[in-house]
Amino acid sequence: MEDSELVGVQKTARPVLAAKALDNRLPDPILGDEYAEQVMRRLDPGYDNRRFGTGQLGLVAVVRAKAHDDWARTFLADHPDAVVLHLGCGLDARVYRIDPPATVDWYDLDYPAMIEVRKQFLPPRDHYALIESDVTDPTWLDRIPRGRPVLVIAEGLVPYLTEAEARRLLTGVVDAFPTGQIQIDTVAVWAWRTSRWDPTLRKYDTRFRCGFDDPSAPAEWHPRLEYIDEAPMNDSPVLMAKAPANARRIFRLLNLLPGMKRSTRIVRFRF
Ligand SMILES: C[S@@+](CC[C@H](N)C(=O)[O-])C[C@H]1O[C@@H](n2cnc3c(N)ncnc32)[C@H](O)[C@@H]1O
Repeated sequence: MEDSELVGVQKTARPVLAAKALDNRLPDPILGDEYAEQVMRRLDPGYDNRRFGTGQLGLVAVVRAKAHDDWARTFLADHPDAVVLHLGCGLDARVYRIDPPATVDWYDLDYPAMIEVRKQFLPPRDHYALIESDVTDPTWLDRIPRGRPVLVIAEGLVPYLTEAEARRLLTGVVDAFPTGQIQIDTVAVWAWRTSRWDPTLRKYDTRFRCGFDDPSAPAEWHPRLEYIDEAPMNDSPVLMAKAPANARRIFRLLNLLPGMKRSTRIVRFRF
């Protein structure tokens, strides 16, 4: 399976990977993901030949990855016996970046085609398994050991699900585990509604299927689910501190547009 054979939403994993690879080339990277650079170089040896300033606009996705990593590290420090469900993993190397102890069991889930591409680039490791499944098929959850704390990381996934699918997924996890943390990111209602005209999404023949203006809204889906907080993305201090000056200027201008600062949100919940 070639990366070029991925279809629709599966194609959205690659620009995120390219952003992480470009970040790793900055003098002071935000994420510093060596794997992203290695995989991207193999997928597309000339990926960094485009104008640097434009490429760096993807740095918001890098900020998002860093926020998810930081939250995950804190949770795993407090719950070294956890099970991690990394849903819609794409080609992301989170398990290698975080390098959890052997007491943690980590599952990376994505569509079978994506997992096949992933296997060609990212090595196996102990206490780590790949699940080839549509995340909306509830049977994959039967393969996960129960009775332990769970950490769910769904980065860049929930906007591609309908609200009903996202709700079934999250409530299914809460029902299956005694305690846990759920980290997701969401897009604003306006971004969802206008996504069918978004040139980037059109290029990948996909669109968003849900959106939220209230970051705590998913907590309403289950009585045990509680909203914790959100991390800044488009106006993140780390972005403003580390992005190259030309990209910073563009982000500052974009953030002046109404609704832009919170067009996407990184949010976490506990139960
Ligand atoms: C924007 S990419 C994000 C990839 C990765 N989380 C990252 O941040 O680099 C979205 C990913 O979600 C996956 N995805 C979307 N809908 C899915 C579904 N219903 N089941 C499994 N994976 C899905 C896609 O295949 C893709 O890998």
